[in-house]
Amino acid sequence: MPKPIRKAIFPVGGQGTRFLPATKAVPKEMLPVVDRPLLQYAVDEALSAGVEQMIYVTARGKGSLEEYFDIAGELVASLKAKGKAAELALLDSTQLAPGRIAYVRQQEPAGLGHAVWCARLITGDEPFAVLLPDELLWNPAAPALKAMVGVYERHGGNVISVLEVPEAHTHRYGIVDPGAADGLVTEVKGVIEKPKAGTAPSRLAAIGRYILQPEVMGILGEGKRGAGNEIQLTDAMAQLIGRQPFHALTFTGVRHDCGDKAGFINANIALALEREDVGPAVREYLQGVGL
Ligand code: G1P
Repeated sequence: MPKPIRKAIFPVGGQGTRFLPATKAVPKEMLPVVDRPLLQYAVDEALSAGVEQMIYVTARGKGSLEEYFDIAGELVASLKAKGKAAELALLDSTQLAPGRIAYVRQQEPAGLGHAVWCARLITGDEPFAVLLPDELLWNPAAPALKAMVGVYERHGGNVISVLEVPEAHTHRYGIVDPGAADGLVTEVKGVIEKPKAGTAPSRLAAIGRYILQPEVMGILGEGKRGAGNEIQLTDAMAQLIGRQPFHALTFTGVRHDCGDKAGFINANIALALEREDVGPAVREYLQGVGL
């Protein structure tokens, strides 16, 4: 049995320029999908996969994340005094026990690989998960990271989550060079970050969930720059191939790319429609405007 995945890194240092002006004062990760911040969905996914410690790689201006994941004493007291039990329960997954959340600053925006490397002293010699909160992977019955842990327990090594994207979009992603496939699990023979149009080895794109062995930190520490002159996680992962098992699990569920405005709005509509409280009113509105 490989070592359990106890720690997860959440790179949350990005400036969120695609959501300006809102992100001038509110971190992108705190924008709500229905009534929960985007980051909460990724944290819930990690909790459901058995992760014990969340490591947020933050940056300047991200202070509200710390407020959100703290105990709001006055709010709790006033909800209790008013007997608002349902509202109190909503706060549960925002209040993890002391020590279960750690914060590290990424002092310069040097890429995803650099953000992950910033957490190396906390992950130490353990394997860990990485979740990109922009990617809202929605499958409450079989959350993405939990399914990946299943693959990891069978094969060990490194596991990433993938989905087929249109050929015209491959230049936006880390793309897998696939080996043998067994159902939803594909061996990874290679992986390339943002391949130029027409050069992608497949249409299988990494969608922001990773289980990685600690050796990747040493490779990231070399600080080699890749696509966009950034330190790329994909390039470091590529160096593990052949040294350690490496598999891709195709995600089954609905992927909402909340790094994109339309994707974010779609996520709000899709998740609202599933809710008993707001679903009927949203459906009525959509039908009213002819949708
Ligand atoms: C990052 C990764 C890329 C991955 C993508 C998924 O890119 O570098 O490999 O496919 O996330 O969203 P970014 O979107 O940060 O440019």
